Amino acid sequence: MRTQVVIVGAGPAGLMLGRLLQQAGIDAVIVERRSGDHVLSRIRAGVLEHGTAEVLRDLGLGARMEREGFVHDGVNLAFLGRRLHVDFADLVGRPVIIYGQTEVQHDLYDAMDDRDVPVVDEALDVTPHDVETTAPYVTYTRDGEERRVDCEWIAGCDGYHGVSRSVIPTDVLRTHERVYPFGWLGILSETPPVDDELIYANSERGFALCSMRHKMLSRYYVQCPLDTDTDDWPDDRFWEELRARLPDDVAAELVTGPSIEKSITPLRSFVAEPLRHGRLLLAGDAAHIVPPTGAKGLNLAVSDVVYLADALADHLSGGSTTGVDQYSESALLRVWKAVRFSWWMTTMMHRFPNASDDFDRKLQEAELTYLESSEHARRAFAENYTGLPFNPPS
Ligand code: FAD
Ligand code: PHB
Repeated sequence: MRTQVVIVGAGPAGLMLGRLLQQAGIDAVIVERRSGDHVLSRIRAGVLEHGTAEVLRDLGLGARMEREGFVHDGVNLAFLGRRLHVDFADLVGRPVIIYGQTEVQHDLYDAMDDRDVPVVDEALDVTPHDVETTAPYVTYTRDGEERRVDCEWIAGCDGYHGVSRSVIPTDVLRTHERVYPFGWLGILSETPPVDDELIYANSERGFALCSMRHKMLSRYYVQCPLDTDTDDWPDDRFWEELRARLPDDVAAELVTGPSIEKSITPLRSFVAEPLRHGRLLLAGDAAHIVPPTGAKGLNLAVSDVVYLADALADHLSGGSTTGVDQYSESALLRVWKAVRFSWWMTTMMHRFPNASDDFDRKLQEAELTYLESSEHARRAFAENYTGLPFNPPS
């Protein structure tokens, strides 16, 4: 088989890149390790930045998001027993949209079917080859048979544990990492959300987040030690802990019920660079990870592939290498700003188990009360949370 771009991974980055390339008249094949059903059942992100929603609309994929998503004009930060509402509409004039990654994946998969972008699922041992030449190719095994796709470019959209990043030689690849000493224990429950908007809570007992998917589906998280076992957290224990971390008026409104999913996410910040090596280009979680506190991971995957699709379209339609040459630098400029925001929000909202005195705690209070007292600080928060522009002037 031959195509112009082989995309490794059918997560949001890979599927969206496939759709963007197809719109630019470029052929692509997507190879994914897992089954379509598995990819579509993963519960992950919930918040779409304004710019991400615009990309979905521009791609003709906004209809269900407009119908079923929730426009949120603000979020709440809870601390010291009170609540601060950050009003996005007022401060930056743009909202975020609550629409699950699972739904985005569904919409993208449907679009691939409609538009004839081949998605090969259950592809085993996917391996990029000859990326330092102008004739790279990808091999994989399906139904016990080895297959090969020749191409001009390979896009590594295969997430943090994918194969693509490892193709970059160790003396070329640089990585930057911060591992946080805690994780998030999350549940999904068919109960009405405790509030109309998200609540991020900093409490003596640790961080908590109240989020949602729709009117009868709530998503809640509590900060937990890294060695936490979900078996030790029956639903009653989870609800009790969540309630204890919320301001009294919020806790009083919490409707509990059986969980339909329960999982643990470790928190880390990670950036690999460069994002290009020869004819291999990395995008999304394959290149960087942010802790979920700022709700940035999915949104970064989308902004990366918007930059990448432009660069590939320039090269494959007109021969210009400027876009692909600059891809790593321009995408990373935006990535690092989201890394900073996610790190800052994580640091401000969580209880750090190893803190030896209350210095860090006092700094958290100063950050939060500064936000409370300063419209400038709230505007900077709102600007980052709703999403910095794509392709910003550097
Ligand atoms: P992935 O979604 O990881 O997709 C990679 C794909 O590649 C997968 O389908 C995988 O099966 C496939 N693959 C892997 N290895 C191979 C291989 N060797 N060969 C072929 N295919 C392979 N982000 C937000 O923006 N907002 C949020 O609110 C938010 N909340 C989150 C909450 C949680 C609990 C978690 C875990 C994450 C959250 N994120 C959030 C992050 C977001 O889910 C990720 O950043 C996003 O999924 C990245 O998309 P991706 O396509 O780059 O990678
Ligand atoms: C979610 O709904 O899963 C969610 C929302 C906001 C975050 C992280 C996760 O910051």
